[in-house]
Amino acid sequence: MKWEKKDLIGLEYLTKREIEYILDTAKSFKGVSTRSVKKVPALRGKTVVNLFFEPSTRTKTSFELAAKRLSADVLSFDVSTSSVSKGETIVDTAKNIEAMKVDCFIVRHSVAGAPELISRNVEAAVINAGDGCHEHPTQALLDLFTVREVFGKIKDVRISIIGDILHSRVARSDIWGFTKLGAKVMVCGPPPLIPIGIEKMGVKVTYHIEEAIKNSDIIYLLRIQKERQKENFLTSLKEYSFFYGIDQDRYESIKDKIFIMHPGPMNRGVEIKSEVAEKENSLILNQVTNGIAVRMAVLYLTIGSRK
Ligand code: CP
Repeated sequence: MKWEKKDLIGLEYLTKREIEYILDTAKSFKGVSTRSVKKVPALRGKTVVNLFFEPSTRTKTSFELAAKRLSADVLSFDVSTSSVSKGETIVDTAKNIEAMKVDCFIVRHSVAGAPELISRNVEAAVINAGDGCHEHPTQALLDLFTVREVFGKIKDVRISIIGDILHSRVARSDIWGFTKLGAKVMVCGPPPLIPIGIEKMGVKVTYHIEEAIKNSDIIYLLRIQKERQKENFLTSLKEYSFFYGIDQDRYESIKDKIFIMHPGPMNRGVEIKSEVAEKENSLILNQVTNGIAVRMAVLYLTIGSRK
């Protein structure tokens, strides 16, 4: 398959075949990170710019390492000390950096649509690293990769995404990805945090965590995204934790083997207790490890064939 797409904005815009092609490419890159010399020359001479307007631990580091392991040059642009603080628009910022001949922007922004806006104004590739409540495609790709690695398939695997679905770009990208690849997806959370009409995306809805747990091979926990909530959706985090958090007792009530996933950052003691996060069935650090291979694949496919 020849990769034709200039950008990666969301899994909504990829076909099942394209998603599987990224996952297959990621599989071939996974071994690079276990070698003593963790580098291949695939993107030698290319320049990747991390343009993060929102905080990040995993995604920013993972993209930087992925680009370096492909031998690309990487610039991590520091927004706080840039001319953005003097009123420069994100489009002007991107166009000025592009004038220095770069090949790819990795963009994270609090506003949904920001990476797409940049992509329409630059010739360089643009990869969405999370935009507002819209999408976080590489998070979903690494989640798909992790599930496929554990189960050998994605079709018919039952996954329940639990928490603040309304404000979660991860949930949206995961729903696109998992439903396209044939998984059975359920979403669960307090009614104000479940978007009206989300069933149209091909998911089931429950407001009861016991039902979500009973019908799942994987529970995927999300944090409450206070930074994106414009009003009070919950009476308290303590109450949320009581009804929807996974602690030792709730974990032990699960009869069948179930896997735990979380995109990070975790709010320990709210959606997940530490003792659960450390269980052998927790895939949380596997997800982080797989993020490198998946992002190597995305970078390789997106900019590898560019002149
Ligand atoms: N999962 C995720 O996007 O984490 P960061 O915010 O640390 O990048």
